[in-house]
Amino acid sequence: MKILHISAECYPVAKVGGLADVVGSLPKYQNNKNNTAEVIMPFYNNKFTNGHEFVSIYEGTVTVDTTNYDFKILKPTNIDLGYNLYLVDIPELLFTENVYTENDTDRFFTFQLAVLNWILEWENKPTTIHCHDHHTGLIPFLISQCYVYNELKNIPTVFTIHNAQYQGWFSHDRMNIFPEFNFDNVGLLDWDGCINPLAAAIKCAFRVNTVSPSYMEELKLEANGLEGLLSSESEKCIGILNGIDVDVWNPETDPFLIKNYKISTVQSGSKENKKWLCNEFNLDVNKPLFAFIGRLVGEKGSDLFPEVFRAVLEKNECTILLLGSGNKEVEKQLNDLKEDFKGTYNAFIGYDERLSHIIYAGADFLLMPSRVEPCGLNQMYALRYGTIPVVRSIGGLKDTVIDISKENGSGICHNEVTVPEIIEVIQRGVEFYKDKTSYKNIRKQIMKIDHSWDFSAKQYTNLYKTLNA
Ligand code: ADP
Ligand code: GLC
Repeated sequence: MKILHISAECYPVAKVGGLADVVGSLPKYQNNKNNTAEVIMPFYNNKFTNGHEFVSIYEGTVTVDTTNYDFKILKPTNIDLGYNLYLVDIPELLFTENVYTENDTDRFFTFQLAVLNWILEWENKPTTIHCHDHHTGLIPFLISQCYVYNELKNIPTVFTIHNAQYQGWFSHDRMNIFPEFNFDNVGLLDWDGCINPLAAAIKCAFRVNTVSPSYMEELKLEANGLEGLLSSESEKCIGILNGIDVDVWNPETDPFLIKNYKISTVQSGSKENKKWLCNEFNLDVNKPLFAFIGRLVGEKGSDLFPEVFRAVLEKNECTILLLGSGNKEVEKQLNDLKEDFKGTYNAFIGYDERLSHIIYAGADFLLMPSRVEPCGLNQMYALRYGTIPVVRSIGGLKDTVIDISKENGSGICHNEVTVPEIIEVIQRGVEFYKDKTSYKNIRKQIMKIDHSWDFSAKQYTNLYKTLNA
């Protein structure tokens, strides 16, 4: 089989969140003697693209409405990612510093057309096209409905929903951007009075999956308006839990860490990373360190942090370190707190890949009070680094973290996203930390949990096989 992943993000090329981690690692685990997996994404103007050399392997033109865009397909010449990477260069639209901008409908629509125009001409066509999130959600419609892509019609499409909150809606007034198709089927594009790329993908892809089994079940009940659609299409829908790249996320070899460690040395190794963090961020090294890493958005429950942190820090029993960015008001409140809790609280508002690795290694607990969590990778990174996740049991968090009061427990869990419940689970963590033997044992135990892609990559392969039979 030859699988082509189409995505807006892919680590290490361009990353905003977990989508990049998944697209940047799953193909490595799919590449073997029987299968080839490759990735195609936009050519942005960032550190990766500026730091590497590329060669053009194809040049074409894509017409959107009446505008022609010349595009190139580029390949990096001096890096081995473990899979072939192709980048679509459309300078006017895609060569931006940020992955996402205000013009995403046009940018990603043109990207999708360019990818398909190239595949039409490509000798070595994929046998499965795997699209990720709404930015690539129109591909299954374009292939199955637009006359110009008729030749690709029989290539099965798989669509992965990483997050159903974002659907890529745009107005029917833009219908003219689509290449000609049988207008009797225009309903495939529509959901709730808009053109909805996520809904179109669910309707048109051969198979649809979410990034955890629980999230698929949750979406059938509440999916930002798509719950009915997911229920009616449930026969082709499945939940496949994300894995993690255990080569990148390995405390024994991670080049970002202050000190590397393995299961037998977690106590001392993690301590060195904690010392560095506490020194850097002026935190009391003797108290249990709770950390948060992520986007400061409603889905992650981060709007409750200012109130929760204040209440917890007033007890003076733990320290808190936050790394993230997002909602400006929340950022401000989190920054303001610093003044009141010098020595026990700090926040780095921004994005820092290296710091995130050191925090996974050096923190004692990782907070994830998510309202919505399609999978969540942070808790799996935390487990691998021996840091105890404190999570709200929802979506992928429910599928990966068992409360320590139960057999094979791996973290501290709560059910509701409220200020009192989050305070309560932090308190449970503080108490648990005092029981040094149990705390040490659990760190070793959770580091043994295998969340590598091996299992989930096989599930994807089995899914593709049903389509290529
Ligand atoms: P989501 O994709 O919803 O943001 P995930 O848990 O799937 O959540 O993945 C988040 C990824 O982004 C992880 O690799 C995490 O370490 C990383 N990340 C999030 N925020 C930051 C940040 N401010 N600095 C560094 N890495 C971050
Ligand atoms: C999305 C989800 C996150 C998931 C990631 C990778 O960003 O919010 O839960 O882990 O995609 O699939």
